[in-house]
Amino acid sequence: MKQFVHKLYSRGELARDELVYLLEHMDAETRAELFRFTHRRRMEKYGDKVYMRGLIEFSSFCRRDCLYCGLRAGNRNAERYRLKPEQILDCCREGYDLGFRTFVLQSGEDAWYTADILTELVLNIKSNFPDTALTLSIGERDEITYSKLYKAGANRFLLRHETASRRLYQSLHPNMSFDNRRNCLKTLQAIGYQVGAGFMVGLPGQTAEDLADDFIYLKTLNPDMIGIGPFIPHDQTPLAGARAGSLEDTLVMVALARLLVPDALIPATTALGTLNSEGREMALKVGANVVMPNLSPVSVRNKYALYNGKICTGDESAQCRHCLELRIGVAGFSVDMGRGDSIKAIMANR
Ligand code: 5AD
Ligand code: FES
Repeated sequence: MKQFVHKLYSRGELARDELVYLLEHMDAETRAELFRFTHRRRMEKYGDKVYMRGLIEFSSFCRRDCLYCGLRAGNRNAERYRLKPEQILDCCREGYDLGFRTFVLQSGEDAWYTADILTELVLNIKSNFPDTALTLSIGERDEITYSKLYKAGANRFLLRHETASRRLYQSLHPNMSFDNRRNCLKTLQAIGYQVGAGFMVGLPGQTAEDLADDFIYLKTLNPDMIGIGPFIPHDQTPLAGARAGSLEDTLVMVALARLLVPDALIPATTALGTLNSEGREMALKVGANVVMPNLSPVSVRNKYALYNGKICTGDESAQCRHCLELRIGVAGFSVDMGRGDSIKAIMANR
């Protein structure tokens, strides 16, 4: 088992059957060895820095019906909200004053935000805060829209592939296309965005083969960012009664991502922090190097409920920022409030 870990560290790859074997036979000793190597690789690549992104969840309306997600259109009990562009700008201003130089604008797939409204918003944010990097996480749109937003100044785009298994993807995403999602990621990269993909761990029906395929897909896509979090059930969804993904499994996936796509930025996700109060710190110790404190207005926070028990819903932006700064320090890392571009992006701009 340990030889697989050593091979992963020295070569940055593993055959699919080896990955499956490793995932199926992961014991405490192998895990400890894996974590030692992933921490080493992270220090070689990014040092002890942890990049902070200010997350603004600007609309909880969603036209999709993903079986796992609390924002799904079919959840009639969800309280919906939509921040006006001026309110989003206020959040950016507050974030900027707190020192943030990267904003992540995230929402459900909300058609109220047309290509024109979004373009205007991006132009406004970039003219008010020219020294920031702007990330969009708004789901699937057409190529023309992606391209307009890029030209308006958006730099990065997060669109998790959710799972690389066609079978699992189709079972969880009614009326969505596995191929279209992958095409969106390709298109975004071709336009010039720094792209973030990623997946959930512990989805009902997910196998070791499916997870191995997530890594094989990520290696070919070679994204700038990889978001990995545990699946956590939400009461008002068809998966309400399903089991959540485990802390251990999610940490192993974060670690494997660090070895297989070593240049990627990897967030310690809020879902991990929800599963375990120290989950984000644990992720930082096994290769994660980004945190995304919440800058959304407190009045809407609990309405952006993707899963049960989401943390930070009662905390002001400044509280989240300071809380995370403390946590990062205690875990032995140092906060970087800069743009925090990926190694791949830095190389490409030379
Ligand atoms: N549990 C964990 N993560 C979830 N997401 C959506 N619903 C859940 C859930 N129930 C994740 C998806 C999405 C991201 C914004 O949140 O991966 O891409
Ligand atoms: Fe939000 Fe700790 S990160 S309160």
